[in-house]
Amino acid sequence: MVDRVFVTGGCGFVGSHLVHRLIEEFEVVVFDNLSNAVRENVADVEREVRLIVGDLRDADKLKEGLKGCRYVFHLAAQVSVERAIAEPVNDAAINILGTINLLRAASHCERVVLFSSGAVYGEPIRMPIDEEHPRKPISMYGVSKMASESYAYAFYKTFGLPVTILRPFNIYGPRQRRDSQYSGVISIFAESLIKGEKPVIYGDGTQTRDFVYVSDVVEAGVLAAESEEAIGQVFNVAAGKPTTINRLAEEMIRVAGKKVKPVHTQPRIGEIKHSVADISKIRKILGYKPEITLTQGLEKMWEQINHQSKLKQENQVYFSGKGLT
Ligand SMILES: NC(=O)c1ccc[n+]([C@@H]2O[C@H](COP(=O)([O-])OP(=O)(O)OC[C@H]3O[C@@H](n4cnc5c(N)ncnc54)[C@H](O)[C@@H]3O)[C@@H](O)[C@H]2O)c1
Repeated sequence: MVDRVFVTGGCGFVGSHLVHRLIEEFEVVVFDNLSNAVRENVADVEREVRLIVGDLRDADKLKEGLKGCRYVFHLAAQVSVERAIAEPVNDAAINILGTINLLRAASHCERVVLFSSGAVYGEPIRMPIDEEHPRKPISMYGVSKMASESYAYAFYKTFGLPVTILRPFNIYGPRQRRDSQYSGVISIFAESLIKGEKPVIYGDGTQTRDFVYVSDVVEAGVLAAESEEAIGQVFNVAAGKPTTINRLAEEMIRVAGKKVKPVHTQPRIGEIKHSVADISKIRKILGYKPEITLTQGLEKMWEQINHQSKLKQENQVYFSGKGLT
């Protein structure tokens, strides 16, 4: 019999990639309130998955959906740093209380893989950032993610719930939202390039980030669920390489085949200057190996953007031909 797995946030950016990977091996139940996702992200596999449109704050619905599930991948979250500032109570209700609901409902599960974030570290005091680095988040989002992972760890210690915590750094790839409230720098630059505008770099562009392609994060999730050694452990998930924002912009412009130059503006207050993860723990214990280079990842992303705009144009021609514009 095929094992059943439960993916919260399975219609979102990372979650939908994970769902596509998991259906190769498992029966998949997706739990998502569609607040930051579109059903189309899993439309091509909708017949193969069971989609529950539900909210993490609804403990009964979670409990019902989790029946018979062996593994849980918990990705549903309020992910906007800006919204967490504007609505911290809502952010905490989803990321903290919602996670507690999930942990309680998952008491029979063989593994809960919780997607936390590199945001829990805050301003780095050493580099590369290893898992023992102090957690001192500087954003409200980081605080709620830190609380969610602390609860997961406490459920492990108190009830023996087999949890594994992942801390991804900057994830990118196809299906990432491109509106600035939710997106990272890569999708914001992509949006500018699509519109023929110049990418805007805050500050001198020498700040660094650790960009990891979404399929590498998905593999880390699967490896984490299947390793006994991963129980009660925390792992960074990243490429383990720093990339300056200047180099990123240059590479994206090249991949997109555009002839623009980025513009620089005032540095953003409170922004962390450098961030790169130490990924030796996940390499050693889970055998994780990031496969996709930044250039390859950006090329894949751009292919999808071209494909989408071609489809859009074809639809426009089709509908205008029918007088339905
Ligand atoms: N994207 C990144 O760079 C990044 C980096 C580090 C960690 N993470 C973490 O990875 C996970 C996935 O992030 P993502 O980028 O795919 O974000 P996303 O917004 O695309 O996915 C989150 C999903 O959760 C759903 N959701 C939100 N609130 C919900 C609720 N109350 N009940 C049920 N569903 C709800 C949304 O509709 C969405 O489909 C998150 O936990 C995020 O904190 C992401």
